[in-house]
Amino acid sequence: MSKVKVIFWSGSGNTQAMADAVANGITGAGGEAEVASFSSISPADAASESVIAFGCPAMGAEVLEESIVEPFMADYETKCSGKKVALFGSYGWGDGQWMRDWQDRLVAAGASIIGGEGVIANNAPDDDAISQCEELGRMLAQA
Ligand SMILES: Cc1cc2nc3c(=O)[nH]c(=O)nc-3n(C[C@H](O)[C@H](O)[C@H](O)COP(=O)(O)O)c2cc1C
Repeated sequence: MSKVKVIFWSGSGNTQAMADAVANGITGAGGEAEVASFSSISPADAASESVIAFGCPAMGAEVLEESIVEPFMADYETKCSGKKVALFGSYGWGDGQWMRDWQDRLVAAGASIIGGEGVIANNAPDDDAISQCEELGRMLAQA
């Protein structure tokens, strides 16, 4: 099995901690994981992966980070039909609207969301959120 890429953006480390937990879930299930930032991969290379994970916190007003992640995803959406995508990210004061919008965009673009919905954590991921990220990693390893 090829390495599963776990691509993330994180301003203050919370989504990065989630990315590490997703990677631990992948390796714990016998897979290989590669954790990397959005700026290290092109949308086309990401779309060449049949299974991939993306993490981004709620930013702006319930949107993705706007300078790197939003343009990346707008491009990726033109290329991701048939791909299996796991989503995760941290939020502060909202109710997860950015994640519902992110899921809806990818489903409309023809991708399927592993686990049915993205994993969200309020600020720094607590034990429950870390467990959910590890479970997401197990699902990625088996996808
Ligand atoms: C510029 C900015 C905009 C934000 N906008 C939202 C928002 O719209 N909704 C929300 O729930 N949290 C919002 N937050 C809170 C972050 O999502 C939260 O602090 C999160 O834990 C950051 O994750 P990170 O450590 O991976 O960067 C915002 C934070 C910043 C700095």
